[in-house]
Amino acid sequence: MAPMNEGTRNALDIPSDILAIDPETMRRLGYWIVDRVIDHTVSIGDERAITETDPASLFALLGGSTPIAPSALDDDLELLAEVALKNQQHGDHPRYFARVPGPSSYPAVLGEWLATGMQSVASSWGGGSGPTAVEIIACEWLRDAIGLAPSCEGVLLSGGSMANITGALTARHLRGEGVIYLTDQTHASIKRGLLAMGQPAVAIRVLESDARFRLCPEALQASITADLTRGLRPLMVVATVGTTNTGAVDDLPAIADICTEHGIWLHVDGAYGGPAALCDRGRAVMPGLDRADSFVVDPHKWLFQPYDIACLFVREPGALEQTFAMYPEYLADVTGSAVDMHNRSLELTRRGRGIKLWLTLRAYGLQTLGRAIDRGIGLAEYAQQVIEVDHRLQIVTPAQLGIITFASPSASDAEHARAAARLTADGFAAVTSTVLSGRTVLRLCIINPRTTTTDIDGTIERLAGYLG
Ligand SMILES: Cc1ncc(COP(=O)(O)O)c(C=O)c1O
Repeated sequence: MAPMNEGTRNALDIPSDILAIDPETMRRLGYWIVDRVIDHTVSIGDERAITETDPASLFALLGGSTPIAPSALDDDLELLAEVALKNQQHGDHPRYFARVPGPSSYPAVLGEWLATGMQSVASSWGGGSGPTAVEIIACEWLRDAIGLAPSCEGVLLSGGSMANITGALTARHLRGEGVIYLTDQTHASIKRGLLAMGQPAVAIRVLESDARFRLCPEALQASITADLTRGLRPLMVVATVGTTNTGAVDDLPAIADICTEHGIWLHVDGAYGGPAALCDRGRAVMPGLDRADSFVVDPHKWLFQPYDIACLFVREPGALEQTFAMYPEYLADVTGSAVDMHNRSLELTRRGRGIKLWLTLRAYGLQTLGRAIDRGIGLAEYAQQVIEVDHRLQIVTPAQLGIITFASPSASDAEHARAAARLTADGFAAVTSTVLSGRTVLRLCIINPRTTTTDIDGTIERLAGYLG
């Protein structure tokens, strides 16, 4: 044995199994988690849709001084399950209608667990060929299922915010600086991301949407013409299929024609609505998806995945690598042989996000997934029919891709906001208000296939009652 100094000797006296947990305990705790998750899944409808506790109580329950000595894993898991994980919105609850639900499915959870337990990595082909292959295959299946251009290449990211901005960075890298066109219904994260990537505020146009809250092709054409007249260069149009507020779908064929005429990059945000293309009725209202230069879809919204997973597709092969590739010396032996996913975005170390998606697509098949999505579209249509016959309420925007907005003709903005907050605080359902054309309205996003008509009846009845 080589001579060692004292510091080295002391360090090597530390047992190699210092972090090990004995296999029996690992199994017992692992099975405990499985039981907890399945209990949650089975009985979630009897629980509150959302729970919030004041910061002082939560910090007291979960905090304390930084742990120095070990504490009991059993107790801490219980604390996490009972306190940390109870105090949140349950996007998988059948009466969670706020913002965008996240009706996760068990095959996806299994895929996530397996990938995490095996420290999956999809950074380079050399360091993670299996998870990389799974990610590429899952992206290709999704691309074809949605009906994007066959040349599209994909990369999985943490969410729509990151995926949209990765698309914008790609457009700007390939085409250079220029003006970017949004609408007042474009998701707020996109403008935030554009500003963060250094897009000057003066080169962002926020166009007023039309009466149905869609991008107006005539207004777009006029804005582009005005910019060209001023000597400015249009770079990118952001269209949305399934806006967050109302589920509105922009007229992609008309917008794509304008983009083609002027050589403008067409980015389509399908973070919310993209999965609707998996069913006939959704696909029918979203023609022109194949014309997108880049497209975003969030499987953690309407494709039954646990957080987090979004997919960016870019039509031009190699465009992502042209934008993001780097070749540091220390990665030379794992980089460059095939596809290196770390060269498709700003993420270097990245887990195998594709594993849960791959497993879900295989476990259910597109037909079942499409039917589960179609049920969401139908549930919102059912909500519309309930509201239409309730004299206390009126429709503001009809059911579109699982989203409906409505209001009381006699209640104030504040009363609408209060009604949503009251139902949410009550725990029966989680509902949010939104603002459309300056008016506060109620909004239901109904994409969980486990939601029943009774859930919808009960929610609308309570809201109408609160509004008086
Ligand atoms: C249409 C749309 N785009 C982008 C986003 C942002 O996605 P994420 O929250 O996953 O970052 C959302 C979120 O609701 C959305 O609805």
